[in-house]
Amino acid sequence: MSCYNKALLIGNKVVVILVFLLCLVHSSESLRPLFACDPANGLTRTLRFCRANVPIHVRVQDLLGRLTLQEKIRNLVNNAAAVPRLGIGGYEWWSEALHGISDVGPGAKFGGAFPGATSFPQVITTAASFNQSLWEEIGRVVSDEARAMYNGGVAGLTYWSPNVNILRDPRWGRGQETPGEDPIVAAKYAASYVRGLQGTAAGNRLKVAACCKHYTAYDLDNWNGVDRFHFNAKVNLLHILYISNIVYSKKIFCNLLSNLYNQFCMFCFKVCMHVSFQNYIFAIHFEANFLLFGRKMPKIFEI
Ligand SMILES: *[C@@H]1O[C@H](CO)[C@@H](O)[C@H](O)[C@H]1NC(C)=O
Repeated sequence: MSCYNKALLIGNKVVVILVFLLCLVHSSESLRPLFACDPANGLTRTLRFCRANVPIHVRVQDLLGRLTLQEKIRNLVNNAAAVPRLGIGGYEWWSEALHGISDVGPGAKFGGAFPGATSFPQVITTAASFNQSLWEEIGRVVSDEARAMYNGGVAGLTYWSPNVNILRDPRWGRGQETPGEDPIVAAKYAASYVRGLQGTAAGNRLKVAACCKHYTAYDLDNWNGVDRFHFNAKVNLLHILYISNIVYSKKIFCNLLSNLYNQFCMFCFKVCMHVSFQNYIFAIHFEANFLLFGRKMPKIFEI
């Protein structure tokens, strides 16, 4: 018997209204899957990494100590596998919001109560306004819609946006996703848009987590038999310092950072690199990268 039918069977009008309201609360909550450490999941109450008052590094150590190597590896992909014994659900990290929530990523779906989302102009156009408050405001609207879709159970909370690659060559087919060729404009754009997406709440509470992609020197998707996963973007230190540091020193603190497509990198997974401290995936990546490639994370990546 549905919750609503139960409400109708009870004669008293006040009770009907109360039960009906409870049903509404219940049904809107149940659209969302349980998240890791969800207080509604009694199982997680005994787990140390779920205790918000324990220092973050202790929680990370605790979680890492409980995960098997296989479980860590299965968390290196965008469709991260669940670890039911620890109350951790599966999660699709890949949602997109360059200029509005998009269903390009498998993490966000349109339909039903969410037939679509606001589509703002392409970033290259918006960037041409040189208006930082406009960029931030767009980010705020996009994350409002993202939260609404998350509450409706049709989108995640991690967005692979903005694209902060410097547009160095017009033949790269993704130039319109970026704020253009000027690292200073790109840095200001990224800082404003990320602030709009993530919100400015105190502490480490995020409205959604923004992923600044792609780390640096990304100018090729798929051309003439060469694709991004198999070619080596030759990057010198000057390039990294010149472009990345300008972009990443603007106190953007994207909560995710995507991979750099080259042989040097240890982020050779075709997914965003998750440095969300809230989900401790950074630590998992760190350890798994270390285990898989025997390398330590260079300082520059520790944002
Ligand atoms: C910049 O954008 C804001 C909206 O965030 C708008 O109110 C303002 O008029 C814009 N400034 C200019 C100079 O167009």
